[in-house]
Amino acid sequence: MDVRSFVRALPKAELHLHLEGALEPELMMRLAARNKVDIPFRSVEEVRAAYRFTRLQDFLDIYYRGMDVLRAEEDFHDLTAAYLERAAADGAVHVEVFFDPQGHAARGIPFAVAADGILAALAEGPERLGITSLLIMCVLRHLDEEDGFAAFREAAPYVADGRIAGLGLDSTEKNNPPAKFERLFAAAREAGLRLVAHAGEEGPASYVADAVDRLGVDRIDHGNHALDDPALVRRLAGLGIPLTVCPLSNLRLGGVADLRQHPLKRMLDAGLRATVNSDDPAYFGGYLLDNFVAVAEALQLEAADLVTLARNSIEASFLDEPAKRTHLDRLDRIAGAQG
Ligand code: HPA
Ligand code: ZN
Repeated sequence: MDVRSFVRALPKAELHLHLEGALEPELMMRLAARNKVDIPFRSVEEVRAAYRFTRLQDFLDIYYRGMDVLRAEEDFHDLTAAYLERAAADGAVHVEVFFDPQGHAARGIPFAVAADGILAALAEGPERLGITSLLIMCVLRHLDEEDGFAAFREAAPYVADGRIAGLGLDSTEKNNPPAKFERLFAAAREAGLRLVAHAGEEGPASYVADAVDRLGVDRIDHGNHALDDPALVRRLAGLGIPLTVCPLSNLRLGGVADLRQHPLKRMLDAGLRATVNSDDPAYFGGYLLDNFVAVAEALQLEAADLVTLARNSIEASFLDEPAKRTHLDRLDRIAGAQG
C-alpha cells in the first residue's frame, strides 16, 4: 500500500495549526472582495507568487498582511470550516488549532468576533466531518507581555467555560525568549489553561529548555533546535514532552535545506514524542497528509514509524483519557490489519 493511503487510514490528531495560516489564496481573494479590503494582489497566481519567503520573519510579514481580509465572524467561520474539511479528508480525527487574537485586535477586530466565528465552525466538526477540536489562543511574542495580558483578559469568559482550552506563544522567536512571558503563562496555568509555546524553530535550544522550565508548557511547538543540546534531549524524552514538528514549514522557512536532512527520524530515535503537523498549510505547500508523505519519503520512514507518529499525536493531544483510548484502540486495530 502507498504511504498516502496508509497514513490517511490511521486515526491522527493535528496539534500545530495556525488557522490564519490555512487561509488559501482563493478564499483570501473572495474575502477581500466581500469585505472590500485592499490587498496588493489581483489574482490567486499573484498571491502564490508572493510566497517566496526563506525565513520566519519574511513569512510572518506576508501572513499578517493576508489575515487583513478576515473581518466578520462569518469570515472566521468559513476559514475554519475549510480547514476542517481538509483535515478530515487527511484522516485527522481531532485537531487543536491556534489563532492570533492580537493580530485581529490590532486591526480593530474584537476577540469575540474571531473566537465566535472559529468556535461556530469547530462545533459543526463532529457531526459534519467526524472531527473533534480544541481552540488555543496564541500570544504574539514580538509584542510586550502586557499586550498579551490584554488579550488574555478579553478571553476570560471563553477561558472560564473551556471554549479556549490553551495558551500558546508564536511569531518572531529570535530575541523574544520565553522568559518575557513568564507571568502571563503563570496566570494562564492558574486559570486552568493547557500551555504550549513555539520554541527552537529559529531560536536556540535554551529557548526550548526555558519554555519547559520557566513557562511550564505541556508541549513544545517545533523544538528542532533542542537537538543541539543532547542533555536537553534526554530530559525532554524523560519528561515525555511532545514536540509538534512541521516538516514542510521547516523546509520553506530554511530550517532544513532538504527534507532528507530533516531531524524527525533523529527525534524519534532519541525517544522524543514527535508528531507531524502542517503549521500554515496555505503558505507552506501542504496539509497534514502532505507533510507525512513528504517526510516519510525523504527519510524513508517505515510503517512502524508512521504508526508511532500517529500514536504520538493522539497521546500528545489534550483529549481526555477515554477519548484517547478510543482513538488508540482504533489505531491499533487498523495498524494491525495493515501491517
Ligand atoms: N512560527 C512562528 N509564528 C507563527 C508561525 C510559525 O511557524 N506561523 C504563524 N505564526
Ligand atoms: Zn507554528
